[in-house]
Amino acid sequence: MDQNQLKKQVAEAAVAYVQPGKVLGVGTGSTVDFFIDALAQSGIEVPACVSSSERSTRKLLALGFKVVDLNEIESIGVYVDGADEIDASFAMIKGGGGALTREKIVASVSERFVCIADGSKKVDCLGTFPLPVEVIPMAVQSVARFLKELGGEPVERDFTTDNGNRILDVHGLRIDDPVAMESRINQMPGVVTVGLFAQRGADVLLLGTQDGVVTSQK
Ligand code: A5P
Repeated sequence: MDQNQLKKQVAEAAVAYVQPGKVLGVGTGSTVDFFIDALAQSGIEVPACVSSSERSTRKLLALGFKVVDLNEIESIGVYVDGADEIDASFAMIKGGGGALTREKIVASVSERFVCIADGSKKVDCLGTFPLPVEVIPMAVQSVARFLKELGGEPVERDFTTDNGNRILDVHGLRIDDPVAMESRINQMPGVVTVGLFAQRGADVLLLGTQDGVVTSQK
């Protein structure tokens, strides 16, 4: 199976975690696109979705789902999203698609985070995938200098986020303590969100492998 088939496989498996009749949190990315397709085909009744990006919102609306603003609801049962890297403690690097801020907000109010990923995303130590950091435009250079002091090599992405901000992709960081690194980068003035999801990591991991979907729970 190629990588897309592995993504499709976990996306289809994630449909079993959707709670019928409850508001669903929907992440962003190519794996989530497969999940949205599988959800539409399943016929499960989802009253509304909270989306983590304009990309997912467009796809959800096109397939007939209702998308509501997070301010209109009080809680989300399940949040389904992909990852760029995930470690044994279910801490993740996310934001390869640039949607990290809304993803982190939706994840923070969800009871259960179901991560769907192909096997290549599972790592022993986070940091081989460049760490995305969403930054207020006026702070790009000051935050970049700070990230260099941490030992990273930040590269500004040619991309503006859904929130009108910039992304620095930080290469060369070895992230031995993801919780501490998340706090440290978050505290830098001008940083909107760091794409480390460690303080609120995943609860369930569906990993697509050549031998089928491997499910692990925290
Ligand atoms: C989007 O900003 C990211 O956090 C995605 O969840 C992550 O990049 C995984 O994307 P793919 O499913 O496309 O690999």
